[in-house]
Amino acid sequence: MPHLTVVDHPLIQHKLSIMRQEQVSTAGFRRLLREISLLLAYEVTRELELTTMTIQTPMCEMEAPTLEGKKLALISILRAGNGLLDGILELIPGARVGFVGLYRDPETLKPVEYYCKVPKELDARMTIVVDPMLATGNSSVAAIDMLKARGAKNLRFLCLLAAPEGVERMREAHPDVPIFTASLDEKLDDHGYIVPGLGDAGDRMFGTK
Ligand code: URA
Repeated sequence: MPHLTVVDHPLIQHKLSIMRQEQVSTAGFRRLLREISLLLAYEVTRELELTTMTIQTPMCEMEAPTLEGKKLALISILRAGNGLLDGILELIPGARVGFVGLYRDPETLKPVEYYCKVPKELDARMTIVVDPMLATGNSSVAAIDMLKARGAKNLRFLCLLAAPEGVERMREAHPDVPIFTASLDEKLDDHGYIVPGLGDAGDRMFGTK
């Protein structure tokens, strides 16, 4: 599997171009994020394993495909990750959900854990970490460190936008974790914001600007 997959489906690209625009309302931004996350979820779960079960159709008995193994785990990096959860949970309502909270230490500038509550038996689940913006990669690398320490092995990282700097940082720290995104943007600015980007994803989805 490639380390970076840009999901270039025309519906995703069209919706993303609307979302990026600064005049889009909080409600519009949220709706588009939910719709795109549903489409991204379809792609990030492509490698889920299947088994078969015997079912009875109105015509005959058949061996029908069904998902194998434990329910997958969705891990949201607080707070913006929560904006991606809704759409994914619409598609996979049985998924288990966890949350990771990190803040940046003002002196060391390193991410520090303040919250971590994740599903049990991560070692037996596909674990999808969600955060709309892969910028410096510091928080995603730290979140994945925490999840690996709790047993996660089969990990994916799902974001809306990625900066080349963040992709590189993830490739160095976690080459075994494939990244799925709707766009690989140009760069980071001096404040760590993605350019052209869409601004502060958390502020835009929660209306906190
Ligand atoms: N976080 C955001 O919300 N936006 C960026 O551009 C980078 C990080």
